[in-house]
Amino acid sequence: MLFSDRILQIKPSPTLAITAVANAMKAKGIDVVGFGSGEPDFDTPRFIKDAAIRAIESGKTKYTPVGGITELKQAIAEKFKRDNNLEYSNSEITVNCGGKHSFYNLMQILLNKDDEVIVPAPYWVSYPSMISLADGNPVILYTKEENGFKITPEELTKHLTPKTRAIVINSPSNPTGATYSKLELEVIADILLEKNILVISDDIYESILYDGIHFTNIACLSEDHKRNTIVLNGVSKTYSMTGWRIGYMAGNADIIKKVEILQSQSTSNPTSISQWASIEALIGDQSVIQEMVDSFTRRRKIIVEGLNSIPGITCMNPEGAFYAFPNVTGVYALPGWKGIAEKYADKPNNSHRITTYLLEEAKVAVVPGAEFGSDDNIRMSFATSDENIVKGVERIKAAIQTLL
Ligand SMILES: Cc1ncc(COP(=O)(O)O)c(C=O)c1O
Repeated sequence: MLFSDRILQIKPSPTLAITAVANAMKAKGIDVVGFGSGEPDFDTPRFIKDAAIRAIESGKTKYTPVGGITELKQAIAEKFKRDNNLEYSNSEITVNCGGKHSFYNLMQILLNKDDEVIVPAPYWVSYPSMISLADGNPVILYTKEENGFKITPEELTKHLTPKTRAIVINSPSNPTGATYSKLELEVIADILLEKNILVISDDIYESILYDGIHFTNIACLSEDHKRNTIVLNGVSKTYSMTGWRIGYMAGNADIIKKVEILQSQSTSNPTSISQWASIEALIGDQSVIQEMVDSFTRRRKIIVEGLNSIPGITCMNPEGAFYAFPNVTGVYALPGWKGIAEKYADKPNNSHRITTYLLEEAKVAVVPGAEFGSDDNIRMSFATSDENIVKGVERIKAAIQTLL
């Protein structure tokens, strides 16, 4: 079969692939502890499900306007005002089929061949692929762990070229949890504004923050920065609604209009029922978020302390999101590693080797850091039960201890 060059350059999403392998092992009766999946393990809150049921029963089951119903756009505008003190009109907001779709649409309407988008690494696995699918070039800016995985103005300036169209800022970050303070954003924001580089602020983990950290994004800095920023967000992570597929974006009305034209010729509207449920999520009882964050806070402590007790592993405390991104370079230096590297020599790099070793020997599913742009790390989602975290970390410890 002949396929397009476009699809042949893209790999399947590694996080979904790891989760599928772990699930297949579980289906065979193997007791695998999964840290792969990027979704909260809580049920969608009852009042949100009730809104969906009401929508079905009152016949809200037909096509809607391509970019979402007015009521949802208003709820999104209210959310921006309430949480971010940002004002958007309905023509500056559009609703897509998940946050991933928001980014995909944006790339499709913004990029021409070889236009560059700066992607700070470690990055969410899907950004580079979606940029490539739009014929653009992802320009990877490798941040340093000692800088908290945040970009410095010097590094940023070095990566700018006449072809740079946009930069992605994902704070809190998947996979590192790095969260930019207002001061840290101010330092880079003016460079971007001066060079007219569009900021794509992916705020999907906005509400999952620890240690009293306050969320801010570049759009909040000034009216000029707001004009130069497209904010992406969605209900998946905040309200445990990953399967409902509602993402949204806000910013320049011309961009929004183009996204709606693209959507009108591709997916049409996001699911009507999910839209009605999302209104309830965004303007209903927000205390459900804190309950989830309290659980994540407890789990973060268990996983970070557990990982730091393993020889060869060091783990920073993520400031937000629900991922640990331990540095495993010390494991690559252990005496027993040579044998593992030889056994899994067919794997492309060390983080794939350690991931395979942990899956086969410890029955623990983690994601190779190389997929996020850092072979020194692995990613472990702690959106799983306390018991699973304890069990999984103990298994990893036992497997690594055999390499001492
Ligand atoms: C950084 C980041 N942005 C966007 C998304 C998209 O989420 P969804 O498509 O479920 O809204 C994800 C999901 O993993 C993510 O990690």
